[in-house]
Amino acid sequence: MNQPIDVMSRRIAILGSTGSIGRQALEWLSGESGMSICALGAGNSAELLARQVREHRPQAVGLASEQAAEALREQLPDGVELFSGPGAMCQLIRHTRPDVVLQAVVGAAGLQSTLTAVECGSTLALANKESLVCAGAVVMPAARRAGVAVLPVDSEHAGIFQCLQGAEKKDVRRVIITSSGGALRNLADEQAEKATVEEALNHPTWTMGKKITIDSATLMNKALEIIEAHWLFDLPAERIEVVLHPQSVIHAMVEFRDGSMLAHLASPDMKGPIAYALSYPDRPGRETTAPMDLPALGRLEFQPLTGRFGRAVNLGYEAIRRGGPAGAVLNAANEAAVEAFLQGKIRFGEILTLIETVFRQAEGRESFPDTASQPNEESDTLSTLLSADAWARKKIKQLLTK
Ligand SMILES: NC(=O)c1ccc[n+]([C@@H]2O[C@H](COP(=O)([O-])OP(=O)(O)OC[C@H]3O[C@@H](n4cnc5c(N)ncnc54)[C@H](OP(=O)(O)O)[C@@H]3O)[C@@H](O)[C@H]2O)c1
Repeated sequence: MNQPIDVMSRRIAILGSTGSIGRQALEWLSGESGMSICALGAGNSAELLARQVREHRPQAVGLASEQAAEALREQLPDGVELFSGPGAMCQLIRHTRPDVVLQAVVGAAGLQSTLTAVECGSTLALANKESLVCAGAVVMPAARRAGVAVLPVDSEHAGIFQCLQGAEKKDVRRVIITSSGGALRNLADEQAEKATVEEALNHPTWTMGKKITIDSATLMNKALEIIEAHWLFDLPAERIEVVLHPQSVIHAMVEFRDGSMLAHLASPDMKGPIAYALSYPDRPGRETTAPMDLPALGRLEFQPLTGRFGRAVNLGYEAIRRGGPAGAVLNAANEAAVEAFLQGKIRFGEILTLIETVFRQAEGRESFPDTASQPNEESDTLSTLLSADAWARKKIKQLLTK
């Protein structure tokens, strides 16, 4: 791991600055005198990014959409560099060389800039779990080779990371990730099948972007998080568990071989994990979230995963066991199916069925030659993973047109 960077001079790039994580990071950073924002990047939101530029004065900005970037160009103060197009996030990092990249782009669209952050030696504060689900086999070895720290921003993984401080991996019996159960947690499987987009987006404890909110309702979010934990903490599938915990107060637990269990408790507020990752190895020097009122909370409950929840989470375990391109297939099938649901093309219950169908079709495949990018011989190479990603998206599209 690189030497910790002096907090007083820490330069931060936020990719996905217009999203839920990005906006919360900027809000927290507004009160933080020791860190400066050198770069902001997003997909489409020119107006919001222009406002963020006026407030935070980054050295450079980027938008993945060329068209949106043209709209932004007219609103930029003199001296702010603008990058646009599919490579904009990577160019932003190369141009500004941040100490820390907060990777908060949604989906596998964040993968290339995750790799660029590692390549440039920036500490990676990683919210974008899809980078690891798709290509943990590439990202983690690259980070180790470059001596780059990968700090989890996902609340469960930030919790595990904190419980593991000072611990030896050999002493860990298992890690336990909690799930609120998402927006439809009180519905039986047959009722959830028919849930509307509005109902599925109505998360009981967290306010997040649309994709992760739907992932929380299907529990595919936990399937992705199991894989994320596997890569971040180098743990096999059988030592990562998931339990339903409706209060979303305990985010994760680590059980040691001696039977001791450490739990990470915090209000369901992403500013906590964001601030921790940006301040690491220190703790944030000021109050970040409101103190928790334990008597008001009353009790903490835990339940097993059953029915559709068990089906979703099993896909995560299966992807780890299969290895190779399985994570990339699972992630891409999920992204494409969620998009189809948000666009009103499929019912809620069909999200999981479509993913399972594509995941089954990929079983045993090491290469995915019917896509534009040709795979290399090694199954874990980036080009194979990208091919697997493209293949799964194409398969979902084909299933949708049937
Ligand atoms: N929200 C949470 O509480 C939470 C918690 C844990 C983990 N995460 C993870 O954090 C990531 C972000 O989640 P979110 O909830 O913040 O999502 P979100 O609100 O949908 O925001 C996504 C961000 O990504 C940007 N983006 C989309 N496509 C892009 C592209 N091709 N290039 C550059 N930027 C692009 C969007 O820009 P435009 O909007 O301008 O298009 C937006 O800034 C996800 O991986 C999610 O799983 C989120």
